[in-house]
Amino acid sequence: MGVQLTLFNEAYPISQNQKVTNVSSVPKRSPFRYAGGKTWLIPTIRKWLKKGNGIKLIEPFCGGGIVSITAAAENLATSIIMVELDDDVASVWETIFSDNEWLVDSILSFEMNIENVNSFLLKENKTTKERAFATILRNRTNHGGILAKGAGFIKNGENGKGLASRWYPATLARRIREVLISKDKITFIHGDAFDVLNKDFYQDNVYFFIDPPYTIAGKRLYTYFDVNHEEIFRRVSDMTCHYLMTYDKSDYVISLAEKYSLNWKTIPMTTTQHIQKDEILISDNFDWFD
Ligand SMILES: C[S@@+](CC[C@H](N)C(=O)[O-])C[C@H]1O[C@@H](n2cnc3c(N)ncnc32)[C@H](O)[C@@H]1O
Repeated sequence: MGVQLTLFNEAYPISQNQKVTNVSSVPKRSPFRYAGGKTWLIPTIRKWLKKGNGIKLIEPFCGGGIVSITAAAENLATSIIMVELDDDVASVWETIFSDNEWLVDSILSFEMNIENVNSFLLKENKTTKERAFATILRNRTNHGGILAKGAGFIKNGENGKGLASRWYPATLARRIREVLISKDKITFIHGDAFDVLNKDFYQDNVYFFIDPPYTIAGKRLYTYFDVNHEEIFRRVSDMTCHYLMTYDKSDYVISLAEKYSLNWKTIPMTTTQHIQKDEILISDNFDWFD
């Protein structure tokens, strides 16, 4: 293993010997293409959750929810709480659990072209389910799936297919229906992560998976990017249950982990631009890791 000096002159290991996940081997269950999505972390999540029985998983920054819905589908947890603050993202999860077939029908019957996309997006006073469908349209037609304001449409796309290059209605319909199968295990909360990051939830067999917006790139990717990272670290340091937290590797994040005496490791991943980089994992223990 190599070592690298941080701004704080402390040595930390670079994960040269760990294997990068081949994402194509992981089932893609989320209806979202999610910036900062954690599909690549699923093999690690399986190892983490396999150590427990009757696990209650809580995901305070759920976004595209791949960790929660994989845990539900693969019986890695018996109950799951997903929390997301963003109104658009939340409308999708709410509609999946309340108006699933309406959403599926809207996707399957939509004729994908710029006029239809624009006319649906411009519709005023959308209901929650219409907002959900609009969010799915934007997620599938915006560059990188980015939902924050200012994101533009896909230009050339895959195989020159342009706007429709990420529009797979049958696949989306299947994923949305499959999430519904786990509805009895999952509670979705449209709310603030900090409301569950408190001691009322720190019970036996609770596992928190915490994936806050990146400290550096978050602003471009999410409407709600501005979180109090130090407060997250402070709350995590008070936790009396299990947790796994992920972050971008930066001196700031490492300094917070050190300040709050949290265990951390690096893990390699490959970005959608095929660049290999390390991210940080923080956990109450790493007995499950190797
Ligand atoms: C890194 S993304 C999570 C990605 C997710 N793990 C996935 O695989 O798709 C962080 C998410 O936190 C959400 N978020 C930001 N602030 C929040 C808050 N205070 N409470 C709940 N969610 C929040 C953002 O909207 C974003 O969806």
